[in-house]
Amino acid sequence: MSGTRETRIWKLPPGLSGSKESLRNSAEILGAAEVLQRGGLVAFPTETVYGLGANGLDAHAVAGIFAAKGRPADNPLILHIATLADLDQVVARLPAQAAHLAHIFWPGPLTLVLPKTENVPMITTGGLGTVAVRMPDHPVALALIEVTGVPLAAPSANTSGRPSPTEAAHVAADLLGKIDIILDGGSTGIGVESTVVDCTGASPVILRPGGVSKEALEQAIGGTVEVAPHLIAAEEFSEGPVRSPGMKYNHYAPKAPALLVEGQPPDIFEQLTSLAVELQAEGEIVGLMVSQEMVRYWQERAIDTGKWQIMCMGSRRNLEEIAANIYRGLRDLDNTNATRILLEGVPTSGLGLAIMNRLTKAAGHRVVGDGN
Ligand code: TXA
Ligand code: MG
Repeated sequence: MSGTRETRIWKLPPGLSGSKESLRNSAEILGAAEVLQRGGLVAFPTETVYGLGANGLDAHAVAGIFAAKGRPADNPLILHIATLADLDQVVARLPAQAAHLAHIFWPGPLTLVLPKTENVPMITTGGLGTVAVRMPDHPVALALIEVTGVPLAAPSANTSGRPSPTEAAHVAADLLGKIDIILDGGSTGIGVESTVVDCTGASPVILRPGGVSKEALEQAIGGTVEVAPHLIAAEEFSEGPVRSPGMKYNHYAPKAPALLVEGQPPDIFEQLTSLAVELQAEGEIVGLMVSQEMVRYWQERAIDTGKWQIMCMGSRRNLEEIAANIYRGLRDLDNTNATRILLEGVPTSGLGLAIMNRLTKAAGHRVVGDGN
């Protein structure tokens, strides 16, 4: 099941994604669907990040996902569906609030955790009696699910622990020789994964912040939406039951040790600068992922940044832009010779909650500065 595979990379002609019909009849989608039907592994773009897909109802195929990623067996997968009718075969009960959220946010970056049916093998759900489901908002993903004709189990298409892939090249860097096909549909739009919401209790609980903000969920529900305690207190990872098993694992980690600096300008700019200067004086090669405002701050003060490896993640005033760039930035930093990494924090409103969740994990929970 593990072992080597010849990975074919199929670039989808740009513009093909415009027409649903031509996409469904394309050689790439038909060929990939056939491989999936035979139990193979296909990486495909979604609107959040690339997913590594297999037939989610075929235990043997799903085992291939865990092997290719090196993913712990107790970390459950998300099933991707193309129409609401697909829910019936995988979900035993659809509470009214979950139906409401699906109606508002699907297709889109929202994953609902619901009671599973017998059809869903235990390996897909990491041994849980619940199943995570989402309908992605990407023409390639939707066409692939439709033509394959089964829900696709698909975690992010990275080696376990590495940053999620937002480009086909990131998938290839991690999984070449381990999967059958990479469908290259260009860069994904949102850049952070879906929001995972537990809908099995009396009221919905956010298990992982993502592309749909807490504020948007609250507006849809007409009330407050709870955030799982493990997202607020980092330390509890070691003890007690974990509601979203994926959250306890070290994720997105660059190879060099990273530190996340929180706070508001100008304090955050001053702190980042002095940390970088100190580390350089200690002989470290400093890598930084910062906002364009930070870069401008250095330029205006004529700070010598010549020895620093700098990745710009976009404007602090545009969290969409930052979300779209953080995983690429972390991977690019990994490809430099940086020995220490500094990450600039952002406010936690809107998409900021998901961005800070990922940056905190990338930093292995090493955080300094004033939160907000
Ligand atoms: O945007 C996304 O969600 C991407 C794209 C490919 O769809 N997928 C993704 O999958 O991020 P993955 O496997 O990297 O993350 C799935 C998350 C994990 O944190 C996992 O623990 C949680 O969803 N999860 C899955 N099934 C669950 C369940 N039954 N109960 C609680 N959490 C669950
Ligand atoms: Mg992942």
